[in-house]
Amino acid sequence: MSVLSGKNVLLGVTGGIAAYKTTYLVRLLIKAGATVKVVMTPASREFVTPLTLSTLSKNPVLSSFTNEDDENDTWNNHVDLGLWADYMIIAPATANTMSKMVAGNIDNFLLAVYCSAKCPVYFAPAMDLDMFKHPSTQHNFEQLASYGNKMIPAGTGELASGLSGEGRMAEPEEIVDFIEKDIASQLPLKGKICLITAGPTYEPIDPVRFIGNRSSGKMGAALALEMATNGAQVILVMGPSHVSSDHHLIDRVNVETAQEMYDTVHEHIHKADYAIFSAAVADYKPINAADQKIKKKSDTLTIELTKNPDILASVGAMDKRPFLVGFALETENELEYAFAKAKKKNTDLLVLNSTRDKGAGFGVDTNKITLIDRDRNTTEFEVKPKSEVAKDIINEIINRTI
Ligand code: CTP
Repeated sequence: MSVLSGKNVLLGVTGGIAAYKTTYLVRLLIKAGATVKVVMTPASREFVTPLTLSTLSKNPVLSSFTNEDDENDTWNNHVDLGLWADYMIIAPATANTMSKMVAGNIDNFLLAVYCSAKCPVYFAPAMDLDMFKHPSTQHNFEQLASYGNKMIPAGTGELASGLSGEGRMAEPEEIVDFIEKDIASQLPLKGKICLITAGPTYEPIDPVRFIGNRSSGKMGAALALEMATNGAQVILVMGPSHVSSDHHLIDRVNVETAQEMYDTVHEHIHKADYAIFSAAVADYKPINAADQKIKKKSDTLTIELTKNPDILASVGAMDKRPFLVGFALETENELEYAFAKAKKKNTDLLVLNSTRDKGAGFGVDTNKITLIDRDRNTTEFEVKPKSEVAKDIINEIINRTI
């Protein structure tokens, strides 16, 4: 999955012949999973039509402060658009637009959006070789870099003038590749390893029956995705679950029983910087699983159970251990039980769910959590989709450790 997935990307198109390549650039950004909005300078509309870019981006294209074609003549808010963006790309960036970006000369809508944007800004210069070499252009490159804008290097080759040299706008694939690599290199958890347990465990009674629970694995998969999105390498130890967890940074190990989960965790725990144990591990398992299917012989059946190893507690007891996050699902006296659990299992952070809260717990797509730290500080969150809950938990972990 691309680092641009789920991100808001604002593409600023300026008036150079390379503008025609932005049609393909928009498609690549959409393919990467980004939401794309396009702003254009008036001059760029001569090179590529707003209709083409609005069709490809599935969003209206703006190039002036008001919509002249709209009888209500509504105001286009450059500030809102600037703040909406997670990333802004100016491609092609002409010498003229760059000089205005340097000087803060806001004589069109695109430049107003640029000056309002708080997000990282990338620019892909495109011009003829002599303009490219001109000291004013070179000076502007340096100035833009000093503002924190990132230049996507121009290529060398045949130019629209028929001359050959430096100044060709980077190809759309190169632009996306450059941005993805740049974002990935700066993710807060880059180089960190996180071990996550998720889903239920199944404890066999006989070859066809088991003791299990209703955990879906959704919360753990959302946590894995969020960790990976922030750059961490994730080892996801998943009990039986149909929930997918596709990301190139997630290695999934499917397990079935608590013992298998315990063994897999201890195989990997020594390399982990973080461990998040969200699995609903069966506390007990049948002492002896029958080799053959148990036949319906008597009116009652007694199955003797024995305790499973407590994976979270076993890691909490290690001398050298990762930053440790546990979960607690309670039905009553929530805080009291959770404080005791956090102490007993030695967690750095405990995520408390209560079955009494609507929209929390197993099987649903939402959750409601309270985070509890070592000093018994509590932070309560609203009911949210599990993907948002995962963001809250991972943000808290990043704030506390990075
Ligand atoms: N956990 C674990 N191994 C177990 C049982 C639980 O790793 N054998 C972890 C869970 O993944 C969770 C935390 O411990 O992070 C708390 O699980 P919970 O079932 O709420 O607590 P228990 O210790 O089982 O206590 P109880 O069921 O008595 O509330």
